[in-house]
Amino acid sequence: MAVFYFMLKKREQFGSQFGLIMAAVGSAVGLGNIWRFSYIAGVNGGGAFLVVYLLCVLLIGLPVLIAELTIGRRSGLSTVSAFRELAPGTFWWVAGAIGVLASTAIACYYPAVAGWSLGYVFESIANWSGMTADTAAAFGEFSAGPKSYIFAAAALALAMAILIRGVAAGIEKWSKMLMPALGGIMVILVIRSVTLPGAGAGVAFLLMPDFSEFTVGGFLDALGHSFYSLSLGMGVMITYASYMKKSANLAAATTSIIAMDTGIALLAGLAIFPAVFAMGLRPDEGPGLVFVTLPMAFTQMPFGQIFCTLFFLLVFIAALTSLISILQVPLAMLEDRFGISRRKGLAIIAAVAVCFGAPSVMAFGVLKDFSIMGLDYFTFLDRFANNILLPISALLGILFIIFSFGVAASRKEFLEGAGGGGRFMSALYPIAVRTVAPAAIVVIILRAAGVF
Ligand code: PFF
Repeated sequence: MAVFYFMLKKREQFGSQFGLIMAAVGSAVGLGNIWRFSYIAGVNGGGAFLVVYLLCVLLIGLPVLIAELTIGRRSGLSTVSAFRELAPGTFWWVAGAIGVLASTAIACYYPAVAGWSLGYVFESIANWSGMTADTAAAFGEFSAGPKSYIFAAAALALAMAILIRGVAAGIEKWSKMLMPALGGIMVILVIRSVTLPGAGAGVAFLLMPDFSEFTVGGFLDALGHSFYSLSLGMGVMITYASYMKKSANLAAATTSIIAMDTGIALLAGLAIFPAVFAMGLRPDEGPGLVFVTLPMAFTQMPFGQIFCTLFFLLVFIAALTSLISILQVPLAMLEDRFGISRRKGLAIIAAVAVCFGAPSVMAFGVLKDFSIMGLDYFTFLDRFANNILLPISALLGILFIIFSFGVAASRKEFLEGAGGGGRFMSALYPIAVRTVAPAAIVVIILRAAGVF
């Protein structure tokens, strides 16, 4: 009966084109653009990495994004159910199930980093001298101590409080407010950073490619990161597209997602590297770049405390809108596939995220010495989701387009509502989806399997 009632219920939709774009951009723009992009670019030589990354986004990320958006909108269902609807009686739904597993795994470690950024907003207001006396020691202490649990839980609770309101009144409404705020803060920070004396070296580091030390490893990092950054292979774009109207312009949405995700990563680089170089610090610090090196740079500039607070607020906003999308994937799956209400679904997901997520916060404290296959719990979840589940799910999604849904049908769906736009992308899409995109994903999988 419950299922029957559910089937009769009208599906929620995004209210406006702007709202759906902000929600999808909100998912794409996250820790990946600021924290992950900047440290990977930093260790891979800056400009050279950027060029390769842009190519990966255009040649591989773009076709996969189109594929996922068309699966979602055509079926009008979240991942898993979408595949069951479009190919009844087959096993293609496994592609969706792996995506749900990936997003659930990510939901178990993303709140930890979101919590650090929320915590650092407060630390830079209330404990500026403690936080900056020795930034490495302060970060070590913060991430190992009780505050890291409180802020991770707060980040998770905030995302859930928005999600409980639903797609239009929750996700869409908040994305429409938070994303422009994020853009505004970003512009302020970039202006501050590039006008510091000595900033030129940082700008050059990011924008002047030097391939002399670029490695195959750097290329593979760029490939993997383009997927992560665009929220692909996890069911997010399938799920969000299922709330899009038939009249929504997918071509405009695709262009906006790609342009804004890449643009924000670029701006984050322009906010971070010039400041790091101007203060005589190193860009290749690794994952600690944003939490250790950058606060050090802020201490040395006038009004650094204000800029530091703004910076972590920016990171937190980016993380929050992505976390919302990560949680929406299993939530919508439970709703569509099993008719479980939003409230109950959120309770289930909260229980999973707390049980399996708490150890990822503890991995920086009491569980420091605990390892799975030689990795700490946090890194294990990150690698398992991003290096294994995500490319497999994306590859199955593409194979589904080629062998079941049909490239032509997917292209037709893409153009519906586009009002004559998107012709160029849709002309290249069939070629890319049959050649470079699957080939590149196979390369990512082989690398994860340790073949090279
Ligand atoms: N795209 C997000 C980022 O760049 O931080 C990360 C992300 C979002 C990963 C949504 C996974 C996901 F399902």
